[in-house]
Parts: sequence; C-alpha cells; structure tokens
Amino acid sequence: MCGIVGYIGNKKASDILVSGLKRLEYRGYDSSGIVTINPENNPTLLRSTGKIIELEKLVDQNPTPDQIGIGHTRWATHGAPAERNAHPHRAGDIFLVHNGIIENYKELKSQLSDYEFTSDTDTEVLAALINSFYDPDTTLQSAVTQALNLVHGTYGIAVLSIREPDQIIVARLGSPLLIGVGKDKDNPENIVASDASALLGHTKNAIYLNNGELAIITKTEVKLLDLAAQELTPKVEKITAELAEIQKQGYEHFLLKEIMEQSTTLRSTISGRVDPEKGTMKLGGLNLSDQELRGIKHIVIVGCGTAYYAGMLAAYYIEQVLDDVTTEVVIASEYRYRAFNLPEASVALIVSQSGETADTLACLREIKARGVKTLGIINVVGSTIAREVDGGTYVHAGPEISVASTKAFTSQVATMIMFAGTVAKAKDINPQIIAKFARELSLLPDEIAKTLQTHQPEIQALARHYSKYDHALYLGRDTAYPVALEGALKLKEISYIHAEGYAAGELKHGPFALVDDRFFELFLIIDGWLIDKSLSALQEVKARGGHTVVFTNSTKEIESDHLVRITTQLDLLTPILLNVLQQLFAYYMAVEKGGDVDQPRNLAKSVTVE
Ligand code: F6R
Repeated sequence: MCGIVGYIGNKKASDILVSGLKRLEYRGYDSSGIVTINPENNPTLLRSTGKIIELEKLVDQNPTPDQIGIGHTRWATHGAPAERNAHPHRAGDIFLVHNGIIENYKELKSQLSDYEFTSDTDTEVLAALINSFYDPDTTLQSAVTQALNLVHGTYGIAVLSIREPDQIIVARLGSPLLIGVGKDKDNPENIVASDASALLGHTKNAIYLNNGELAIITKTEVKLLDLAAQELTPKVEKITAELAEIQKQGYEHFLLKEIMEQSTTLRSTISGRVDPEKGTMKLGGLNLSDQELRGIKHIVIVGCGTAYYAGMLAAYYIEQVLDDVTTEVVIASEYRYRAFNLPEASVALIVSQSGETADTLACLREIKARGVKTLGIINVVGSTIAREVDGGTYVHAGPEISVASTKAFTSQVATMIMFAGTVAKAKDINPQIIAKFARELSLLPDEIAKTLQTHQPEIQALARHYSKYDHALYLGRDTAYPVALEGALKLKEISYIHAEGYAAGELKHGPFALVDDRFFELFLIIDGWLIDKSLSALQEVKARGGHTVVFTNSTKEIESDHLVRITTQLDLLTPILLNVLQQLFAYYMAVEKGGDVDQPRNLAKSVTVE
C-alpha cells in the first residue's frame, strides 16, 4: 500500500526520493508525489496520478538541487486517485506524507472550520491540524506532537517545514517507518522509508521506529522522542536484505524470478534447521521452554490470502506429526471479530509474508489479550507482527516484490512443518514421521528446481491454450485441496480470469452446474489412498463435457484433455511441487492476458488497512 521516502543530506533529494519510490512501487499505489525544500523557502511540490514514470517526467521538467525532501506513493482510501488527493499535502508552512488512516478525521475536520481543504483525504486533515498548532513561536516538533496526541487511527508520517528547513520529523503508530543512518561521516545524510527496500544501496544501518515514537532527523543526527517529548535512545539495527534480492536479475518480471528462485529461498528457510541424516528438525526463536512445547494441545493458525492457504496446507501436515494436538486454521479478517475461545495450552501461529497485514495484526492482538502465546511465521524482518509476537521465526524467503505471493507460501509451509517437528521432538513422539518430513524437506529444493525446469515449456504452452477461457475451477482432495484454493487465487489475481478452488468431493454439491464451454477444470491429483476418488471426479467432469487439465505425480493412466505428469521421489510434499507448477501456469496465463503481472490492478503488497 502507501509508501514513504524522505531524504536529508548533501545529495540531490529528488533523485533519491524518486528512486526510493520506485523501490516501493511493488507495494501497490495509484498516485505519487514529492516535495523538496531549501533554506531560501522555495518548495517544489510535484504530484501525479498513475505510475512513477509520470512523476519522473515532472521532476525532469522542474529540476531542483534541493537536498531535503519527502515523497510518497498513495493507494487511495479516502478520496479517488487524483492529483489533489496525492501526497505530500501542504498546510501553511508544512508538508506531510502519511501512511495509515486517521479514523477521527471527520471530527478533527469539523474543528478546523477556518481551514480551506483542497482534497478529500484524511491526511490533509492531519496536515491542517499540525498547522493549527504551528504558531510562529512553536517548533515543528511541538506542533506535530500536539496534533498526534489528538489523532485516533494509524500513521507513519514524515513532515517538513519551510520555516525549519534543516529537519524532517517522522512518527509512527501502526504503520512502519525506519530511518536509514548514513554511513559516510564526511558526507552525512539520513534517509527515511516505510520499507527497508528503499534504503538498500544507501545504508544497511537502520533505526526502526516503535509505535508512539517520533524522531527529529537532521543531516547529522537522529533524536528519538516519545509523544510526551521524553528523549529515548535509538537502537541501530542491521538490514539483512541485499540490493540484488530486490532486482529482477534478468527476469522479465519479479513474479517469474520469485517462482524460479524457490529452490534457493527454500534452502535458506531450512538451512541449519533440518538434519536429514539424524532425521530431525529444530526451529529456534520460539521463546517456549521444552515444558511449554510439550504442553501444547491446540494450534490455531491465522493468516490472510496465500498465508491462510499456507496455514491450511500446513495443518494437514501438523496433524500427521502431532497426533495429540488439535488444529484450526482461521481467516484473520473474520477471526478478529469472533467471540472466540481458545482451549488451554493453545498456541497461535501468526502467518504473514509482510508482517504488516492489518487484519492479521489485529488477530494477533486479540489472541494475546486472551493470554494465548503467539508465534510469528514471518518473512519481513523487523515488521510490526514480528515485533509484537511472543516468539516465532523468520521464514527467510528474501524480499518478495511481486504483489502475488509465491516463494513465501513454500517457505511458510516448510517453516510450519519444522515447527511441528520441533514440538513433536519435545513431546518425544512420532520420530519416524519427523524423519520422513526431514528427509523430504531436504530434498524439496532440488525437486522444485527440477519440476520447474522440466515443465516450464509445457506449462507455457498450456497457458497459451487456456488463456482464452473466462472461468476456471481448481479441484483437489486432501492436501491438494488447499493447493487448489491457492492456485485459483493466484490465477484470478494476476490474470483476472475468474477462478474458484474447490474440494473435489464437493463437485456434486453445486459446482458441477458450472461445467460448460467457458470453463476449464484444473485437477490436482496426488498419488495415494484417495486417488481413485479424484479420478472419478475427473471422469464425471469429462462426462459432462468439461475441459480438463491435470497436474499429477501419478503414473496411472489418466484421461484428460491435458496432463502434466511430474516425476518425484517425494511423497508427503508433492503438493508443494504441484503448487509451484500452478504458480508458473498463473504467471504465463497473466502474460498471455497482457496485464500488469507484478502489480495487478487494485491490489497492494502490504495490506496495512482493514
Ligand atoms: C496473494 C497474496 C495475498 C497475501 C495476503 C496476506 O498472492 O499475496 O493474498 O497472501 O494479503 O499477506 P501477508 O502474507 O503479507 O500477511
């Protein structure tokens, strides 16, 4: 969703702001803007709808050597994507960029009746509120603090004033903000960003703001305060991501790169945690004693979208490893409002790639409030959820830039299996099953690479054929069921083809009525004890004139219009191989349809609002 960049130093600010905003493009946005200032009180405010390239044109037409500025990518919430609603917003002498939502903006607006508003945004209300406190004898810091003490909602903000042109003020409540501390003492600078990717290439040292903190940033200094103006000691942390990880590295799209690199990213996920020789797995960072691990009786897995489907698949595996534990998997946007009770000795796995998803975060807080231990299964290091959970682990999939989540799914499932293995070890149960999972997890990276490589041309050709259809049904049983749900999500979000995932056993209960020439049916069929049931469902669809494609590891004779047969030494983890294939299928379908593969319409990478 929205992104923030700010710069103060000796370099041309507009260049750094625009390149930083480009790094945040992946988060999803519909307009953008920057403002730069200088000691001569001469601000340059440039805003544009559409892609950053439009903003770049304005920057080229209005060059300025200014060395301080703030920039923003906006994902519309209050007010349409229009230039007047784009940030930065000006009120008097101040400029403001804002991520998040000011919930009491209407009430605040009614108290600012003298102010002439020019946008429909909640952000301009905050700008006007700060301005209302910014008397000639008041500092910007004091005005910002007074305003923020009246605000309800969430914010990550950066504020500039032409009266105090040697500082940027930033503050955070709910929406992430970090300050990249310049690394060159002879050429001091500081950079502000809502996401570490905008800092890469400039510095690896960052101060992550906590909720309720404000910082006054000059070229040489960062002063950290709380909202009662008490000074705090900033903690400088290392950013672990590398610049190369957020570049396309020769691929046409980030999505293709992220699908193809899964064998490598999965290796990072399991590295040092899985020992196939000893047949063991161990996750660190859980913050649970052996006694607490042994006591676990119930696991609730919380997530949204792909993270939720990763949880669904993992639950099948967890049930196999921990046969004395019950599991439930819940959608965060629903669960947060339910009057739920969790049994004693529950733990919650909070699954999120970004670590910022608003609904997932709200669930985490609801669960914590009930005294239940929360463990994060998170990708983005230092993210809000990662900071608020009681314990947990990073999945180490590396930066995921394309809006559609792919490699994170694989790493999330693997991490939850390792969690189950860790708990089972503490309970001293099911060593054979743990050993089987450990062996399969260690083989999985190579199996993924082989599957993708072997079937890429075939999948591309299939996409050429099926991209002319308007609808798709994805069908699977058992562990292939959550994979079917995930496959349908992937297809619809990037190709805009309507797709639904269903449990194959449910066909007779409704979806059969859909089978017609506008639909194709993709069956995920895994060899095993339920295969004949899946094959019957396939035949029933074929008998009704369905257009079928099958992804399978079975060597049985299968009658289908198209058949993608993988060979693998895996058993339990075969669904993950079928999943990477359907990710590739969705990718090529989207390419055929000509949409914006990495930034599908109306979507954002990090869903920080409800
Ligand atoms: C789908 C997708 C979304 C996310 C969901 C949760 O491809 O990317 O469904 O999975 O928004 O996001 P995180 O994992 O960041 O909490």
